[in-house]
Amino acid sequence: MNTTNQVIVITGGAGGIGQACARTFKDQPIIITDYSQDSVDKTVATLAKEGFRVSGIGCDITNKEDIKKLTSFVSEAGTLKALVHTAGVSGSAKDLQKVYTIDLVATELLIDAFYELATEGSVAILMSSMMAHTVPANKVYDDALANPQAADSFDTVSQQVNNNADTMYNFVKRGVQLLMHKNAEKWGEKGARIVTVSPGVIETPMALKASEEHPERMKMLKEATPLKRNGQPEEVADVVHFLVSDAARFINSTDILVDGGVLQNIKKMM
Ligand SMILES: NC(=O)c1ccc[n+]([C@@H]2O[C@H](COP(=O)([O-])OP(=O)(O)OC[C@H]3O[C@@H](n4cnc5c(N)ncnc54)[C@H](O)[C@@H]3O)[C@@H](O)[C@H]2O)c1
Repeated sequence: MNTTNQVIVITGGAGGIGQACARTFKDQPIIITDYSQDSVDKTVATLAKEGFRVSGIGCDITNKEDIKKLTSFVSEAGTLKALVHTAGVSGSAKDLQKVYTIDLVATELLIDAFYELATEGSVAILMSSMMAHTVPANKVYDDALANPQAADSFDTVSQQVNNNADTMYNFVKRGVQLLMHKNAEKWGEKGARIVTVSPGVIETPMALKASEEHPERMKMLKEATPLKRNGQPEEVADVVHFLVSDAARFINSTDILVDGGVLQNIKKMM
C-alpha cells in the first residue's frame, strides 16, 4: 500500500456534480469511478489535460465484485482521504427497484467497503437530496431505509410511495441520511467522519432530464427559490471541498443543505 498519497475517490465522477467535485482538488490524487469504463476514460483524459493528478476505474456500484476491484485500486494508489459518493439516479429511472438499489443499497455497500480503507482523518461524503427533508420520520419505514439489504425492506418502503419513482427517490435519499447517522459511531472510532450533502436543483444532466419531464414543477421550484435561480454543480462541489478539508474536521454525522433556500418554501406549500 502506498501511504504517502491521500486519495480522493469520486463515484459518479463522470457526472455533473462528480466532475465539478473533482475539479476542486487541484493538488491531490483523484480517483474517478463511474458506471461505464468509457465515460471514466474520457473524464480522466479531460481532467489530466487540465493538469489534475487523476486516474480512474469503471465500477457498477450495485455490484460487489466491482466494488472490490475499486477498493483494491484505491488501496494500491494510497490511503483514503475522502470518498465523495455522487453516483446515483433520479426518479426519471421510472423503476422503483432501480432507484432503491442504486441510490440506497449501493450506498450501504460503498460505506461498508470504504470503512475498511478509512483511517484517522478520512471522510465519507454522500449525496442525499433536499427532497429527503420532505419525508417525515417514521419508525416503520425508517428501520427499512436504514437496513436496505434486509429481506422485507424494499417492500416496506414501496408500500409508502404509491408506485411513483420520484417519491421513491425522496424516501431513499432520506435513507442515505439514516445510513450516515447509523455509521457515525463506527467511523468515529477510527477518527473518520461521515456526512451527507443535500443539493437543491442543480443544473446537471440529471436535472435537465427532470426539467424535460416536469417543466412546470422545475419552473415553480426556481421561482420558489429566494435566490431566483437554480444551483450550479460548482456550488455543491465547493461545499464538498470544504467538508473534505481540515477546516471541517469537527463536522460529522450531519446533513448539509445546499439548496439556495428553496426547501423552506417547499415545506410551506406541502
Ligand atoms: N442535480 C440535481 O439537481 C441533484 C439534486 C439533489 C441531489 N442530487 C444528487 O447528486 C448526485 C449527483 O447527481 P448529478 O446531478 O451529478 O447526476 P448525473 O446524472 O450528472 O451524475 C450521476 C452519475 O452517476 C452514475 N451512475 C448511475 N448509476 C450508477 C451505477 N450503478 N454505478 C456507477 N455509477 C452510476 C452515472 O453514470 C452518472 O455519471 C446524485 O446522487 C443525485 O441524486 C442531484
